[in-house]
Amino acid sequence: MAEAEAKWRRTMKALAIPPEILEAAPESPYGFPAAIWGRPTEPIDSPSRRRALEALPQAGSVLDVGAGGGAASLALTERAADIVAVDENEALLEAFAANAEAAGVGHSTIVGRWPDVAPQASSADVVVCHHVFYNALDLAVFARALTVHSRHRVVVELTATHPLDGFNDLWRHFHGIDRPLGPDAGDAIAVLAESGIEVDTERSERPSMWSDAPRPAVVGFVRRRLCLAPERDPEIDALIGDAPQRTPRQMVTLWWPGGAS
Ligand SMILES: C[S@@+](CC[C@H](N)C(=O)[O-])C[C@H]1O[C@@H](n2cnc3c(N)ncnc32)[C@H](O)[C@@H]1O
Repeated sequence: MAEAEAKWRRTMKALAIPPEILEAAPESPYGFPAAIWGRPTEPIDSPSRRRALEALPQAGSVLDVGAGGGAASLALTERAADIVAVDENEALLEAFAANAEAAGVGHSTIVGRWPDVAPQASSADVVVCHHVFYNALDLAVFARALTVHSRHRVVVELTATHPLDGFNDLWRHFHGIDRPLGPDAGDAIAVLAESGIEVDTERSERPSMWSDAPRPAVVGFVRRRLCLAPERDPEIDALIGDAPQRTPRQMVTLWWPGGAS
């Protein structure tokens, strides 16, 4: 296996939760709650939005992979006429559909994991994929499937560092273990380059994606990720303070040409 891809897989796998902690978890630590990722969001004038809009024809089509509530694609409605959202989480796709309905844009959904469900998706003018790369173990395959579904451009947004790196102090506090750092955006770019995808990149800073999320949802998300029981919520609440909602996040936008005809 190529070097960057091997490193990506190794660092991703090293993030696995120790089995004894996972087995004792009161509920699954995985997944993305609709209370955080399903909410309608105001479009931010970000590099990701600008790069997608400049490649999107008027009344064009958008494929949003790992759409959640549609923050990436619903920021493009000034040009997009039709959005297809793909997500493995059905509740989030329902939230997406409600948000798209409210925005008055044509929309449909595909439930399932990318790239497994990629054959169900038609090509679109622009493919967007925000904050999903760190969930993709087979990143090169995942990204190639984005390319072949895009006529003009693929736009990916990810945090500069792995979003769970910031949980390591909490792992030490609650479980007494040191967790490794995850892969970062540079590692993702290296995997893409190695697989023949040359990307343009732009770094930016934006408010935390959790800034408007209800506090109980934020605390509950942290608690689930840490495999803790709800009784620990007050302690988590006090420990994390307002950092998760107030600290700006460093973002990286990647874009490259589509490969669909
Ligand atoms: C952090 S949320 C980001 C949601 C949205 N793109 C945004 O920027 O707000 C990640 C989303 O990707 C979805 N997801 C993760 N891996 C996926 C995969 N392989 N295929 C489809 N959906 C995936 C999750 O269910 C979740 O909705």
